[in-house]
Amino acid sequence: MDTAQNQSKTPRAATPAIKTAAIKVEKIVKRYGDFEAVKGVDFEVADGEIFGLLGPNGAGKSTLIRMMTTLIPITAGRALIGGRDVSKEPNAVRNLIGVIPQALTSDIDLTVEENLSIYAKLYSVPRAIREKNIAEVLEAVDLTKWRGAQTKTLSGGMRRRLEIARGLVHNPQIFFLDEPTTGLDPVSRIAVWEMLNNLKKTRNLTMLLTTHYMEEADRLCDRIAIVDHGTLVALDTPVGLKQSVPGSDVVEVRFNREDDQWMERLRALASVTDVQSQSAGVYRVLTSNGSQTTTQLVEMASRLGEQLTSLSVQNTSLDDVFVHYTGRQLRDEQVKHVFSMPRKGEM
Ligand SMILES: Nc1ncnc2c1ncn2[C@@H]1O[C@H](COP(=O)(O)OP(=O)(O)O)[C@@H](O)[C@H]1O
Ligand SMILES: [Mg+2]
Repeated sequence: MDTAQNQSKTPRAATPAIKTAAIKVEKIVKRYGDFEAVKGVDFEVADGEIFGLLGPNGAGKSTLIRMMTTLIPITAGRALIGGRDVSKEPNAVRNLIGVIPQALTSDIDLTVEENLSIYAKLYSVPRAIREKNIAEVLEAVDLTKWRGAQTKTLSGGMRRRLEIARGLVHNPQIFFLDEPTTGLDPVSRIAVWEMLNNLKKTRNLTMLLTTHYMEEADRLCDRIAIVDHGTLVALDTPVGLKQSVPGSDVVEVRFNREDDQWMERLRALASVTDVQSQSAGVYRVLTSNGSQTTTQLVEMASRLGEQLTSLSVQNTSLDDVFVHYTGRQLRDEQVKHVFSMPRKGEM
């Protein structure tokens, strides 16, 4: 926050960089012809923070990352990375950042070490430091043993880790990761999460990552911005986001048959703030009093002679937050094509 600067009316100098947020985006817009992919987004990321952009496919996450990392021009507004204006000082910005794009881009015909070495040279890392950096990043992503292996022999998760190592080989301060675990199996995904958490602790990195996995955002991020149709619809800590949704508990109920009237009946129970239909006969009931709602639900079912096949009380999740802010479910309509983690109760 540079309030002092805002108060004094002196014009902002492009350089030298002032001590400020690691990332600052102001009313940033991207238009492709008539189509506005990013519609005036503002946010700041503090030094050392892990910040998540969470949203469905097509929300504008990659477009935001590409603008912040100098890969595509900004239509309007501006982005400051480490205090440097991306449009005015792209080279200064490139030296501060590491970028892991959404697609895998390491060369499969090279060894792990060769992939890192090429990148280090590209970033003009001096020869003397190159060896040391490569050894350190390999250790950080747990690929030391695979140093001489052909990249094509690595699993998807290992290749993702190699790309993360490659993005760190020039010791950037600010790290951008576009969907770092999309397409990975659950075990590899957890390994990547652990690795990113370790990197945060050991390297004092600021990280901005995009994801459409609620659980990923919840586990990794200090703060999360929910992006939908090119706008930022909510921004807070995971806990803050969950608290912002009316109803602190979720009762998940499964009836043995579907009925047009379930929705209405559930809404009429005491303390209920919202009801979402999950699938035939399955509902998520948001309530400010889980135990009261549960008791009433059981009474209602027995009064009607209906059977409940399952009933569980959980805390509000980021899924509920997403539905609350966008009116849609993220995973159902958007994540079908990729592997998704089995949810509680489906294992
Ligand atoms: N080069 C482009 N030309 C036209 N439209 C684009 C281009 N790149 C992305 N888009 C559109 O912008 C929107 C946001 O895309 P993107 O940033 O890739 O979303 P996300 O990464 O959240 O899935 C989408 O509707 C996409 O089709
Ligand atoms: Mg994307």
